Amino acid sequence: MIEFKNVVKQYPNGFRAVDDLNLLVPEGEICVLIGPSGCGKTTSMRMINRLISITSGEILIDGQPNTELPAEELRRQIGYAIQQIGLLPHMTIADNIALVPRLLHWDENRIRRRVDELLELVGLDPDISRDKYPRQLSGGQQQRVGVARALGADPPIMLMDEPFGAVDPITREVLQAEFLQIQERVGKTIIFVTHDIDEAIKMGDRIAIMRDGHLVQYDTPDTILAHPINRFVRDFVGTDRTLKRLGLIRIKNLMDTSRRTVTLDASIEDAARIFRESEQNCIFIVDKGDSTLKGWIDREEMKENTSLTEAMFEAPWIDIAVRDDATAREALSAMVARGFRITPVVDRHGKLVGTITLKALQDLAAYDPDSIVETSGGVA
Ligand SMILES: Nc1ncnc2c1ncn2[C@@H]1O[C@H](COP(=O)(O)OP(=O)(O)OP(=O)(O)O)[C@@H](O)[C@H]1O
Ligand SMILES: [Mg+2]
Repeated sequence: MIEFKNVVKQYPNGFRAVDDLNLLVPEGEICVLIGPSGCGKTTSMRMINRLISITSGEILIDGQPNTELPAEELRRQIGYAIQQIGLLPHMTIADNIALVPRLLHWDENRIRRRVDELLELVGLDPDISRDKYPRQLSGGQQQRVGVARALGADPPIMLMDEPFGAVDPITREVLQAEFLQIQERVGKTIIFVTHDIDEAIKMGDRIAIMRDGHLVQYDTPDTILAHPINRFVRDFVGTDRTLKRLGLIRIKNLMDTSRRTVTLDASIEDAARIFRESEQNCIFIVDKGDSTLKGWIDREEMKENTSLTEAMFEAPWIDIAVRDDATAREALSAMVARGFRITPVVDRHGKLVGTITLKALQDLAAYDPDSIVETSGGVA
């Protein structure tokens, strides 16, 4: 856990780069710091490992002021990936990653094992990369090495200053996804600086939006998108924040699992009974064995003297369903493209697991009021 308490950084010329910052980052979470250039992100971060001194206030790490430990010891507990990667060009990849373990006087065998383990963790083949120099790697590979180096001595805390800032957007997305997978395994407490609001939404458990050395809003991505605290935040997150919010929500957390279904071998009377007893206008039909979606039957298609298989619309699930791990944003565009008011939700094997209505997605978007809640900070 990292806690900023009334932290101020004032430079000798009187300029306050950070002004009364209060921020609590819970253990194991990613806190994204975002804001315009010069708002104090790097300064805030570098006060944690004391590369920059604090003018007043304090920073607590697990409840202990960060001034209580000698600076070197403090920095060993805190991995640091700096803006613009910062690999040392005259050192091999292995030596770059081994920097902190060597400072800690690990024995060489342990260091070698750790380097290989980290290279694999960040998706680089140790046999190929270990002895190369930074300039022999692509930008994306160098960024991976930067992350591996920050993880070197397995520190509980990681400070990452625009760690993926120097690569193209596609590589960046790959690195973000890889990093989130790594974080699922290692569970570090991370402060992550970015300029990119989409990156912040994707990476952050919480987002801290800064401006002119002040914290403007500190909340989960969903709350920041749904309830920007003022015009500055609203402008910062952009005009398409409704869509961005829908992009955060997984269909499996939204779907309705109460609708009744029938199996392919059911009779038309079984379907008729469901239509009589419920308000459903369509019933999805699944395989009796593995519950894969086979099609549906509409209320209007109910005729006497026919079988279920004759009355049903048969369609491969891939054409009519959305996956349970899709986002609300993806589901919405699939439904609009297909002209569906209701769509079945399946797992990756095509097994029907629920349904989602267009109305549910619209209600979700409507919960996003365009009115701005002006409050007086209230961030801690
Ligand atoms: N030694 C110094 N003396 C006076 N002002 C300084 C000094 N060092 C930094 N600053 C100012 O402090 C402010 C905060 O700088 P900081 O590096 O924290 O910004 P940042 O939010 O990380 O910006 P960027 O997104 O561009 O990296 C800037 O306006 C900078 O000019
Ligand atoms: Mg910076």
